Amino acid sequence: MRQQAILSIDQGTSSSRALLFNREGKVLAVAQQELDCTYPQQGWVEQDAELIWLSVLKVCRQVLAQAVQQGIEVLGVGISNQRETTVLWHKAKDKVLSPAIVWQDRRTADYCQKLKEQGHEEWVQQKTGLLLDPYFSASKIRWLLTHNNDVQQALAENELAFGTIDSFLLWRLTSGQVHATDSTNASRTLLLNIQSLSWDQELLQLFGVPEHILPQVRQSADRYGVCDTRLFGLALPVLALVGDQQAAALGQGCISAGSLKSTYGTGCFALVNTGCSPLFSRHRLLTTVAFTVQGQTFYALEGAIFVAGAAVKWLRDQLGIIAEASETAVLAQSLPDNGGVYLVPAFTGLGAPHWQPEARAALVGMTLGTGKAHLARAALEAVVYQTADLLSAMLADGAKAEQLQIDGGMVANNWLCQHLADVLNVPVLKPSQNEASAYGAALLAAVALGWFESLAEMHFSSDAQEFLPQMSADKRQQLLSGWQNALASVLQ
Ligand code: G3P
Repeated sequence: MRQQAILSIDQGTSSSRALLFNREGKVLAVAQQELDCTYPQQGWVEQDAELIWLSVLKVCRQVLAQAVQQGIEVLGVGISNQRETTVLWHKAKDKVLSPAIVWQDRRTADYCQKLKEQGHEEWVQQKTGLLLDPYFSASKIRWLLTHNNDVQQALAENELAFGTIDSFLLWRLTSGQVHATDSTNASRTLLLNIQSLSWDQELLQLFGVPEHILPQVRQSADRYGVCDTRLFGLALPVLALVGDQQAAALGQGCISAGSLKSTYGTGCFALVNTGCSPLFSRHRLLTTVAFTVQGQTFYALEGAIFVAGAAVKWLRDQLGIIAEASETAVLAQSLPDNGGVYLVPAFTGLGAPHWQPEARAALVGMTLGTGKAHLARAALEAVVYQTADLLSAMLADGAKAEQLQIDGGMVANNWLCQHLADVLNVPVLKPSQNEASAYGAALLAAVALGWFESLAEMHFSSDAQEFLPQMSADKRQQLLSGWQNALASVLQ
C-alpha cells in the first residue's frame, strides 16, 4: 500500500515551511523559504502578504514533488501560522490592499493607551482574555480602515475582507471559495468572545470594525474546503487551521491541564494548558483558546515575549558580531559568567507581563572589558530571564507547571537549555523532533481526516533530552536580581 501523509504548512514570521508527516508523526519531506520584514517607520513592522502567499505556494509544490517521487499519497492540509498579523484584501479583485501589519508592529500604541485610560481594559479582558495592546489585530484593522484609501474604497464597495494569515492562505488556497478562520487565530484579534467563540458586538463597536469583513469562526480541526486543483494538480482538502503557538503546544503533547511548553523562535511564547475552561489572569498574562476539536474547546494561559531569536538576528545583521546564530553558544560559554552585563531586548516594546509598547531596549552593566561574548551571552540570558518572569506569573495565577517542554530554532543551543533549567529551577525537556508547530497542525488535520478518533490516540515524541537544574539557589537569586535591576531601567 502507498504511504499516506498530511501536508503541514508552517507559516512563521521568519520563514514559510511545508512538511509531510505520516501517521506515526515521522517527517517525510521538508521545504523552507526565508522571509523578511520591513521597518518603514519607528515601531512599524510590515510584510508583503503576496510574498508570503508565493513562498507558501513554492514550498508546498516542493514537498508535493518529493511526495510524487517517493510514491507518497497526500491526503490533506493543515496550516499553522504566525498569529495576529493583519491582512486586508479586495474579494472580487482578489487583491491585497496594503502591506500586512505584523504582530510586532507598535503603530497603534497611542490608540491602545487611550482606550486603557478610558477604562476599557477590564471588560475587554473579561471577554477576550487579552489586554489592550497593539500586538493584537483589532487596532491594526482599525488603523487600516482609517488610514488607507484602497481599504475604504473596498469597504464602500462591500468587497473588503480581513484575515489573519491562516484565513488569507485559506482564501487563496480555495481561490476565494472560503473565508474562515479557527478559534485559536480568532482569539488573538481582540474581537472574539472566547467563551461563546463568536465575534462580539461591543468589541466590534469599540474598534469600529464591521462584522461582515470578518471570517467565519470554525473549529481548529474541520473540513474547511478544497484547494483549487490548478494550484497543485490535486483536490487536497484543508483540514486544520491553528495559530502556531497553540499548534506547538499540541505538537509537544500539551493536551491536558498543567502541561507547559515554550517555543523559542522570533519571539518566545510560553503556554500552559488550563483545560476546558478559561483561567483569567491576574498577573497580566493572556487567556487564549488552545484548540477546538470535536466540539470541545481547550484553553491556555500564555506569556508572549516579542524578542527571543530576533535579538540573535540583531547581533548578526545589525551589529555584525556573529556570522551565524550558532556562534552565540560558543561565545556565551567562553565566559565564566555574564560579568554583570544584561540586555533588556525591548526592541519592539515589552510584552507579558509588562505590556509596555513604548519601552525600548537597553544594554546595562558594561565596562571597558565588555566584549562581543558578553553581548551574545546577554542576548541568550535575556530569553531565560523573561521566561522566568512568565513562569512566576503563571504560578501566581494558579497554573501548575512542573516541567517545561521546549522547541523552536533557539533550542538547538544546549547551553541555553541548561541555563533555562538552572534559572527556572524546573526540569527542561527538549524532544528529538523539533517540528512542534507543524506537527500540531498535522495532528489536527489527522483528527479531521479520521486517522485518530480522539486526542488520546495521538502519537507524541517520547525521546526528549532532559536538562536538570544544577545552579545553587544563591547564584540563581543573584542573576535574577541583576535582571530585575536592568529591567527597571527600561520600565516606565
Ligand atoms: O504571536 C506571534 C507568533 O505567532 C509568531 O510566531 O513563529 O513567527 O515567531 P513566530
